[in-house]
Amino acid sequence: MKIAILSRGKNIYSTQRLIESGESRGHEMLVLDHMKCVLVIEKGRPHIYYAGKEILGVNAVIPRIGASVTFYGTAVVRQFEMMRIFTAVESQALVRSRDKLRSLQILSRAGLGMPKTAFASEPKDIDNLIEAIGGAPCVIKLLEGTQGIGVILAENQKAAKSVIEAFLKLKASMLVQEFIPEAKGADVRAFVIDGQIVGAMKRQAKDGEFRSNLHRGGTASLIDLSAEERSTAIKAAKKLGLGIAGVDMLQSSRGPLVMEVNSSPGLEGIEGATKVDIAGKIIEYVERNEFTGNEG
Ligand SMILES: Nc1ncnc2c1ncn2[C@@H]1O[C@H](COP(=O)(O)OP(=O)(O)OP(=O)(O)O)[C@@H](O)[C@H]1O
Ligand SMILES: [Mg+2]
Repeated sequence: MKIAILSRGKNIYSTQRLIESGESRGHEMLVLDHMKCVLVIEKGRPHIYYAGKEILGVNAVIPRIGASVTFYGTAVVRQFEMMRIFTAVESQALVRSRDKLRSLQILSRAGLGMPKTAFASEPKDIDNLIEAIGGAPCVIKLLEGTQGIGVILAENQKAAKSVIEAFLKLKASMLVQEFIPEAKGADVRAFVIDGQIVGAMKRQAKDGEFRSNLHRGGTASLIDLSAEERSTAIKAAKKLGLGIAGVDMLQSSRGPLVMEVNSSPGLEGIEGATKVDIAGKIIEYVERNEFTGNEG
């Protein structure tokens, strides 16, 4: 098969691993920077140009779209869909998963556990907003945050209020969330491909830190998921329509609580912790869905 990885760089660990795994299984692997794809839309024949040439013969794409380029990246994925080419992550699911509010709404209706979370666009009564999730201590998250930056633990109501006021002043979108102390600075990531758990790791924050992000000095280790954690992760990926998903959960006294579902989960941490060939599992998933490809 000819498989295109939509990625901004050939040297990124995850991209490298997908190239390696694909080639070792006899596929032709292509890296396309989605930001350099030119989408041509005309009657009956959607196509894509890359580096001045029309893309032909691709059988499947594996999107690795960064959060900062979700809009154009998903348009590129959608164009491949229009060309009837299989994509490991559907454009609709990608868009859905990138919207934290929408994702949590969907997961909440599906009956999945989650930390109690409040969103407000112009909260008049901040005390009320904090009370709505059970009061302090609480976690305040900037919606654009990543790698743990923009995630703040407010120990008391006064601190929470000042942080929220400061963010509002900066016109930053945020959410306020119940703090889960039993998680003890750890979270669990389950890697789901095609409705199955292919690996899971626990990330533990360094001493004195509640955020377990590896970028914040956290460490990852292999973990055996409980039956409830497994079914929660699988259901979360399914409800968001994701063929590939990294489901992040907090372990609480009332069971697993889904924090977030990632549609372009990195491979380095999970392969390092589990020693599982996750890239290979992604290629196998693509192989199971081979389409005829575009002949132009
Ligand atoms: N409600 C909570 N209770 C306890 N710990 C939390 C809570 N929310 C987040 N944390 C801790 O903080 C870390 C970072 O939070 P989160 O994953 O929401 O933000 P992020 O990593 O910056 O964003 P993203 O995952 O979208 O890139 C989590 O991995 C977890 O360890
Ligand atoms: Mg996170």
